[in-house]
Amino acid sequence: MKAPYAISIVGGGSRYTPGILRMLVAEKGRFPLRKITLYDNEAERQDKVGAYGKILFQEYYPECEIIVTNDAKTAFEDIDFAFMQIRAGRMKMREMDEKIALRHGCLGQETCGAGGFAYGMRSIPAVCDIIKDIRKYSPEAWVLNYSNPAAIVAEATKRIFKDDFRIINICDMPIGIMGFYAKALGKRPDEIEPRYFGLNHFGWFTQILDKKTGEDYLPRLHEFFKTPMAAVGDLHPTDKSWMDTFKFMSKMIQDYEDYLPNTYLQYYLYPKHIVEHEDSNYTRANEVMDGPEKKTFAMLDEVIAEGKLKGTKYEPKPDELADGHAGYIVDLATAIANNTGDVFLCMTENTGIISNLTEGMMVEVPCHVGINGVEPLNIGEIPTFQKGLLENQFAYEKLTVDACLEGSYKKAWNALTLNRCVNDTDVAKAILDDYIEVNKEYWPELK
Ligand code: G6P
Ligand code: MN
Repeated sequence: MKAPYAISIVGGGSRYTPGILRMLVAEKGRFPLRKITLYDNEAERQDKVGAYGKILFQEYYPECEIIVTNDAKTAFEDIDFAFMQIRAGRMKMREMDEKIALRHGCLGQETCGAGGFAYGMRSIPAVCDIIKDIRKYSPEAWVLNYSNPAAIVAEATKRIFKDDFRIINICDMPIGIMGFYAKALGKRPDEIEPRYFGLNHFGWFTQILDKKTGEDYLPRLHEFFKTPMAAVGDLHPTDKSWMDTFKFMSKMIQDYEDYLPNTYLQYYLYPKHIVEHEDSNYTRANEVMDGPEKKTFAMLDEVIAEGKLKGTKYEPKPDELADGHAGYIVDLATAIANNTGDVFLCMTENTGIISNLTEGMMVEVPCHVGINGVEPLNIGEIPTFQKGLLENQFAYEKLTVDACLEGSYKKAWNALTLNRCVNDTDVAKAILDDYIEVNKEYWPELK
């Protein structure tokens, strides 16, 4: 692999793709590209992102070719990296995942609770089929995979693509939370480094270290979270549900003095509270479809009609580039390409890293990243409370992957029963049967 690189963005029509394209333009010094391919199975969305990309690259990156395709060979031949961010079933199915669970009185969320199970059953075949295509045309390309629910997807890719160290499953949430901590501390995000353990969307920060002095800011952050919740939410001013999520961290941190929880733990530790505050007629899927999705695609339409970015209000601005989702994946690719050994939180197999957790679990831990892939830092033993939660969650995730790969109804039912946000045999069966009804096009048949 040598610079300039060729990459493919799988899920080219995603609302996140324009941000990744802008980030690639901004990072061309560190991570120079010769070719980028957008690949998607929904031409209408991808064509818009592609047309925007062509304008952007013509003005800011003429040395890099941009190709828009729905053909796997064109997308994956001669590439060094694939950035994957697909959503099997799209937002329409996310809405179903959320609303069906809520109808049964259980948490409906994109990646957590029953919603995450339904999405996992769609994602496993979709993601693995695409990786098989990538491997057919580029056996040594790095596959950096954001596709959710990442913990379940990671368990599946580990099993199907054994020992393929160039597949790395990642998530932008910890980095998003670190940005939030940095703001609270009055620091830049690159001045601090996390220590962390868990499963994806199910973990704890154990230390927030100053990269220079080694000081641990965790106690300071604990103090900070005792400030009024409203002020805490304002540090993350996006959509209402994300502001609520960040406000809620105050409560979690006050209830649990050890560590700092990932925001997603709110769903597992307070399912009753969360369900009571959800509107089963208007969930996060609706908020995303009406908000960021519409906004992004309206922007694309305007830029395409205008035919240029320079001199318009959509000209890329440096502060806009502080986008966690795009920044994290580009930083990770850069660390691999330049063999930096920088520390990132990634999913990797537990080979004794967390000594009292089941071996083989796909844990999310800090890793040095370079040309040989991820090298996890040692964590050691974790406390009983976290261990119990993690083992239960892992058993649920493992059974979900078993159910999907074996087509087993019994294992799917067991998985849902084990999920902390469901937890009841009859409810699990009722939810499962409703999900089967609407997922025929996506799930394997369960017998
Ligand atoms: C974070 C998580 C992603 C998740 C996203 C949902 O970035 O790390 O895994 O997909 O939030 O955001 P949304 O705006 O779609 O609710
Ligand atoms: Mn995530």
